[in-house]
Amino acid sequence: MEFQQMKEQFLALLQEQTLIYATISQPRQKSNELKRIKLKPIQLKGVYTIQIEYQYERILKHENVKLDAFAHHFDLLLEQFRQIHAQFTDQSIQIQLSKKNKVLWKSDKTQQQKQVNLSHNRKKQYLLDDATAYPFLIRLGVQTEDGKVKKQKYDKFKQINRFVEFIDDSLAHLPEDRQIRILDFGSGKSYLTFALYHYLKIEKGLDIRVTGLDLKKEVIEECNRIAQDLQYDDLQFLVGDINDYNEETSVDMVVTLHACDVATDMALARAVKWGAKVILSVPCCQHELNRQLNAPELDIMTQHGLIRERFAALATDSIRAQLLTLVGYETQILEFIDMENTPKNILIRAYFTGKKATQEERIKYDSFIALLNVNPFLQNELKNFM
Ligand SMILES: C[S@@+](CC[C@H](N)C(=O)[O-])C[C@H]1O[C@@H](n2cnc3c(N)ncnc32)[C@H](O)[C@@H]1O
Repeated sequence: MEFQQMKEQFLALLQEQTLIYATISQPRQKSNELKRIKLKPIQLKGVYTIQIEYQYERILKHENVKLDAFAHHFDLLLEQFRQIHAQFTDQSIQIQLSKKNKVLWKSDKTQQQKQVNLSHNRKKQYLLDDATAYPFLIRLGVQTEDGKVKKQKYDKFKQINRFVEFIDDSLAHLPEDRQIRILDFGSGKSYLTFALYHYLKIEKGLDIRVTGLDLKKEVIEECNRIAQDLQYDDLQFLVGDINDYNEETSVDMVVTLHACDVATDMALARAVKWGAKVILSVPCCQHELNRQLNAPELDIMTQHGLIRERFAALATDSIRAQLLTLVGYETQILEFIDMENTPKNILIRAYFTGKKATQEERIKYDSFIALLNVNPFLQNELKNFM
């Protein structure tokens, strides 16, 4: 098949609106910052639209393109990638391009007919459906008794859903042959801890045991009461300080959401020591670096208190991410939720791969630390792992 014919045939298939999803991969150049593309159909204001998800090393970007405008994007994507896997309702297609664009097209029509569900796709951004009553959301006051999301709790509902998406994405990194151990450090009122438990245990049926830890006794007592009422038997809450928590030898997933200042670092350090396969961390206020920062080269920024504070916060999260990379994690910084919902919007996601850090990664880290003239708490905690 000719290259041009392949393009026309693929676009003609898209016109039938039977696409379920597609992945475009294998960058023509290894150095390409864009690693992979995902396509999925969605309904936007009643119009069939293709959502293009651009997967960079550390971030995801989305673009919604009407079907008629997609050909142009497809051309650009084919300039960068050599492989397409597309699932349609009645067939799956694998397209492989050589460097010189010779085409290998394989189609498999032996599978069972699949369904496109655009309305569901639209909602799929919400893994927890806003039309379903969830006992834990009712109990936590996010939904009314008849399962409606309370107006003033809608942002919380969106945040919970976003978090559940991250949990869902991390499933492949969790063990399948034994109970999965999960810790939520600084769990506070535990909306997200309950959501995590509900999603993994009740919706996915996984064998998990979850512990939420927090300093606040009354809050923990209330969370335990709710867990008991809901008969969430493998969810427990403990009063304690992250830094003194030494009850575990091995944990699979560590979550910290808005744990203040170095409490996040303590939790990250614990996670690394326990060999956690998945770390999801949304940091909170940060003061440690702000206090230490001493970099005359950055004076025109840091002379302004507001900028100094923001810079210190971003530098802190960059340091955390790089340290996790240096100790064998594939680490990404992602947007937790739309800016209008919370300014504390960065999520550090790290999956353990055991990959040894390169000399270059180490040098980058060391020079950044030297520039800022700081001595981060997390670096000291992890020095034996680097
Ligand atoms: C801003 S709240 C976040 C609560 C919850 N994770 C959420 O996202 O809704 C931060 C929580 O971290 C807890 N915390 C702070 N430092 C801690 C420490 N050293 N050990 C345990 N919990 C801590 C606080 O008590 C507080 O409940």
